[in-house]
Order: sequence, then C-alpha cells, then structure tokens
Amino acid sequence: MSPVDVKRYTKPQIGLHNIMALLIIGLYFFGLSLESFPKDVRGVYVNFHKLGGVLIVVLLLARVILRSVTPPPPFPESMGAGFTKIAHLGHYALYALMAIVPLSGVAMSLAAGRGINFYLFQLASPFEANKAISGPLHEVHEISANLLFFLVLGHVAVALYHQFVLKDNLLYRLSPKGK
Ligand code: HEM
Ligand code: HEM
Repeated sequence: MSPVDVKRYTKPQIGLHNIMALLIIGLYFFGLSLESFPKDVRGVYVNFHKLGGVLIVVLLLARVILRSVTPPPPFPESMGAGFTKIAHLGHYALYALMAIVPLSGVAMSLAAGRGINFYLFQLASPFEANKAISGPLHEVHEISANLLFFLVLGHVAVALYHQFVLKDNLLYRLSPKGK
C-alpha cells in the first residue's frame, strides 16, 4: 500500500507515542536493575526512576487530551470488525497500564513514607511508612510493569506482522518521517 493511502496519527501523537515507548522500555529495565546499585547511591537512582515515571504520567495526560481532540485514524477496512475490536481492546489495555504502573509507583513510595526529589523542590510523603500498604502496592507496581512489558512485546509483534507479512504499511501511521 502506498504511503499516501495510509491514514496517519498527527505529528504530536506520533512524537508522544515514540518518546513514551523508548522511555517506558528504559524505565522498565532501569526499575529491574535498581536492586543491583550499591546501597549508598541507590537512593539517587531510585529517584531518577521516579522522575522518569512521573514524566510518563504527564506525557500520558497530554496524549489522552490530544487523542480526545483528534481521534486515531480509522483502521484499514480489510481488518474486519473482530480484529478491529481486539486492536482497540489492546490499545485501551496499554493506556490503562501506562497509568497503573507509574501511579502504583507513586502510591508505593508515599505509603513507604518516601517522597520524590524534583531538585527544584521536594515532594515529601504526608504518610508514615506503612509496610502493610506499601508491600502490596510494590506487588501491584511489579506485576503491572511486567504485564505492560509483555503486552508491549505482543503489540510490537502484531505491528511487525502487519508491516512485513500483511504488508499494509501500518508502521507509516506512526512514522516520524514524511508529510
Ligand atoms: C512501551 C512501548 C509502547 C507502548 C506503551 C505503545 C502503546 C501504543 C498505543 C496505546 C497505541 C494506540 C494509539 C491510539 O490509538 O491512541 C499504539 C499504536 C501503535 N503502536 Fe505502539 N506502543 C509501544 C511501542 C511500539 C513500538 C516499538 C512499535 C513499533 C514496532 C509500535 C507500533 C505501533 C503502531 C504501528 C501503532 C498504530 C496502530 C494503529 O492505530 O494502526 N508501538 N501504541
Ligand atoms: C512507566 C513507568 C514505570 C515503569 C515501567 C516502572 C517499572 C519498574 C520496575 C520493573 C521495577 C522493579 C520491580 C521489582 O522487581 O521490584 C520498579 C521498581 C521501582 N519503582 Fe518503578 N516504574 C515506573 C514508574 C515509577 C514511578 C512513577 C515511581 C515512583 C514515583 C516508581 C517507583 C519505583 C520504586 C521505588 C522501585 C523500587 C522498589 C524496590 O525494590 O524497593 N516507579 N519500577
């Protein structure tokens, strides 16, 4: 299919999708590696991880607002009603997890009595450390991050299947190149 036949997301939506994809994948592996830092410097890296996660929340808000102003381009008719529904469900699940993962991180930190250092100002936790609450929230953070990662793997596999097997040039919908 020639690029002119493929309807695209807007440039800001494309930019947000691609920047957030890189950031989320980076934060996932960064999160997994946090335990391996020596105790005396670990706090600084945990804080960087938190700042990256807060940035995801801000970008996600911008993305949801942009999506409500300019809805996504329609899927190709060749996809059929069933696959269109599955694709929508998959995308909503990605959006939900992009919110649950960082928000559970914020909640876990605050429940552990720890704040976030934004360098220009400090956000202190208003709560006393409470392991009975921060423990389960840690589980939510870890499990939802793993779910998001595996859903992203499936999402990328589907995108590549469209691109190279179905050859419908799906990636052009999110390509930063071209008009
Ligand atoms: C953390 C990584 C990623 C996340 C969270 C993510 C999330 C999403 C979401 C939520 C949408 C739906 C956009 C909307 O309709 O508003 C989407 C669309 C899309 N993504 Fe990703 N994505 C990620 C990585 C990737 C990568 C690496 C690729 C390329 C291989 C990719 C290819 C696509 C394509 C082609 C679409 C457009 C689907 C369509 O509407 O036809 N994504 N992505
Ligand atoms: C999309 C954004 C995020 C992703 C993908 C992510 C992912 C992860 C992952 C995979 C881990 C390792 C979990 C484990 O095995 O224990 C982790 C740990 C952690 N995350 Fe996140 N995270 C995100 C956002 C946040 C945010 C916004 C905060 C807090 C403001 C946060 C706070 C933490 C903390 C404190 C840990 C260390 C937990 C510990 O072992 O003590 N994360 N994160």
